Amino acid sequence: MSIPLTGNIGPSDAELIAEIGQLRTEKNAVILAHYYQDGRIQDLADFVGDSLDLSRKAASTDADVIVFCGVRFMAEVAKILSPEKTVVLPDMAAGCSLEDSCPADDFAAFRAKYPDHISLTYINCSAAVKTHSDIIITSSNAHHIIDQIPPDQPILLAPDQHLGGYLAKETGREMILWPGSCIVHEQFSEKELIKLKAEYPHAPVAAHPECPAHILSHADHVGSTSSILKYVLESGADIFIIATEPGIMHQMQKSSPGKTFIGAPGMDGVCNCNQCPYMALNTLEKLRDCLRDLSPVIEMDEEVRLAAKAPLDRMLEMSPVPNSDPNSGKAQNRPPKSGRAY
Ligand code: 13P
Ligand code: SF4
Repeated sequence: MSIPLTGNIGPSDAELIAEIGQLRTEKNAVILAHYYQDGRIQDLADFVGDSLDLSRKAASTDADVIVFCGVRFMAEVAKILSPEKTVVLPDMAAGCSLEDSCPADDFAAFRAKYPDHISLTYINCSAAVKTHSDIIITSSNAHHIIDQIPPDQPILLAPDQHLGGYLAKETGREMILWPGSCIVHEQFSEKELIKLKAEYPHAPVAAHPECPAHILSHADHVGSTSSILKYVLESGADIFIIATEPGIMHQMQKSSPGKTFIGAPGMDGVCNCNQCPYMALNTLEKLRDCLRDLSPVIEMDEEVRLAAKAPLDRMLEMSPVPNSDPNSGKAQNRPPKSGRAY
């Protein structure tokens, strides 16, 4: 007996990818993707990178449309730096727990308590919080930027307390920290990590600085997503334990196919809980729809944009020169087309 099919069968991945390719050309669009995106989205993007790489690409593209496959604050940065472009993201609900942990009014009140402090703010925050900041940082340029701040200048760092604690230790600077955190990186279990390390004693641990200090204390390498990628590519080891969002393992498997990557375990001994629920909202289907409809689109009040741009411009001025960037592990998927500088 044949079973009748119910409901609609959606388009296949191949059909969606073909449609996205066609729409990208029609709309003169560039697709930027973060390393935490679904592997299929990373593979069709024009450029895959960390937060700093993607900001630079957004600032320099001459495409008419930027499709940002990442989270909302990243798409906002693209709009702040390229206001004349149409910036869309597949799902407007793709937020970030660090952004949520730092409401702009509370942050303004916090800053007002420390008028002598310079405010270094992690890029994972709203445009409104950026307007109250002196310099934006990412995990790949923060140390380099802090080294340019006079030693007697007190520092306030928001919103990630774990990144802040790590940087305070690394740079030897005292910092007032905002008590925010990433729900994804807080899920790793130290107890389970110790067990895994005992099972794989020769596997180095690579961790993102958004992990709490007790996880970072077991890491052989701490760095941004692009820095972790570069580390595993250059290391002589053949098995690695990775303490960050598992989407990044897609690029690791592509760049180092002979190596094995094990996700650091969560509280229950497995690592599925470490997928970023916000990044996971973006799908091929929503990507196709946002390119077709040019919606959802990032809109921003011009006064907010200009005020948020100032600390972002400072970040870009104070960042390492791209080609000499020791953390640069970015993946360029397609050769630039003539006349398009992305
Ligand atoms: P990177 O800048 O290292 O890519 O980090 C972005 C992020 O959101 C990590 O959770
Ligand atoms: Fe935000 Fe954490 Fe997701 Fe990065 S992994 S986007 S910090 S919630």
